[in-house]
Amino acid sequence: MRKLQNMLVTGGAGFIGSNFIRYLLKRADFSGLVVNADKLTYAGNPMNLIDIESAFGGKRYFFEKADICDFEKMSSVIEKYNVDTIVHFAAESHVDRSIFGPKTFVDTNINGTFSLLEASRKAWAKRDDVLFHHISTDEVYGSLDGGGCFFETTPYNPRSPYSASKASSDHIANAYYHTYNLPVTISNCSNNYGPYQFPEKFLPLMIINMLEGKELPVYGDGKNVRDWLHVEDHCEAIRLILKNGKTGETYNVGGESEWPNIEFVNVLSGKVAKLPSKNPDSLKKLIKIVPDRPGHDRRYAINCDKIKAALGWQRTYDFNTGLDSTIKWYLNNMEWTNHVRNGDYQKWMNANYKGRT
Ligand code: NAD
Ligand code: TYD
Repeated sequence: MRKLQNMLVTGGAGFIGSNFIRYLLKRADFSGLVVNADKLTYAGNPMNLIDIESAFGGKRYFFEKADICDFEKMSSVIEKYNVDTIVHFAAESHVDRSIFGPKTFVDTNINGTFSLLEASRKAWAKRDDVLFHHISTDEVYGSLDGGGCFFETTPYNPRSPYSASKASSDHIANAYYHTYNLPVTISNCSNNYGPYQFPEKFLPLMIINMLEGKELPVYGDGKNVRDWLHVEDHCEAIRLILKNGKTGETYNVGGESEWPNIEFVNVLSGKVAKLPSKNPDSLKKLIKIVPDRPGHDRRYAINCDKIKAALGWQRTYDFNTGLDSTIKWYLNNMEWTNHVRNGDYQKWMNANYKGRT
């Protein structure tokens, strides 16, 4: 079992990274420190960690504004904090954006991961008590058109610029394990949901549009299937991999909750309709079928027997309770949503993070 001490989390100001930092620092059995290195793109928001900053800032939580593509900066962060564990979340993460502008996906997801691996290899040349955990996606396996599911052994077949860039980064991480003996683990997970997800992604977009009475854009025939994993269940999977995962191994993490998009929207609207002043019929009328995403993967489904058997992971959220608590979170945090969407958080960030780059 690894003892986690000085952890570098990349992309910790984003959705999953911020949930992971909170999850870890609030656990009584973690006594180490966390350094969050984030470039603060449109998706990175230090407000996501305002509670953590005030509880642990300068003691066990540190923020470094940094681009993972910057080898010198990342090397100096690893050295400054004597980092022994890297959890690499930082990425461009939205498929639609990758269709409109693939370059930043290649820059950050491929070249950035390469640069970070290289910085780790150099900094850790004389250490074997270290771990580089690379966070990836089930989208690298491609699209399932009928039944079946993705296993860790499923050949890669990425089809969007996003998934191709993530697949490439997985291969580079794997190559560093085999070629340079860098202790690497990889996890590939399904669609996460939960608090602090940027509202361009399907679930928060739908919740917020329902709350605001705006159209609900459903791509194509609405029958594309996604598997939904609560972000806290994902965080626990990562923690277990960091503690006991075998280097050189990949672990799939899934929510075992498959939904065709249109059915998902119907379930969601049924739940939102129970809120005071919401009318089920008027919510259903907001659904708008819009042109399909180019190359839209039909179905993702994950087999996660390996992480269950090897590390004892189990999901704790069923879809119903996970969705209820997520709706509640967005309802109670409309200020956060408005800040994020209006770009106000950029101003907030400049005011609060001045001189702290
Ligand atoms: P996100 O877009 O919410 O956050 C990404 C974070 O990375 C942001 O804080 C951003 O500022 C930072 N970042 C981007 N480019 C950077 C760079 N060059 N240097 C430093 N920081 C940079 O993403 P997320 O949804 O939290 O996803 C995190 C990771 O999980 C990604 O690697 C993604 O591919 C993977 N993943 C996400 C999902 C999902 O459903 N969200 C599913 C599977 C895998
Ligand atoms: P998304 O949250 O973008 O995740 P991913 O593409 O990585 O799975 O989308 C989830 C599903 O919802 C996907 O099948 C595309 C679909 N979708 C819509 O139908 N409408 C939308 O406005 C968005 C953003 C996504």
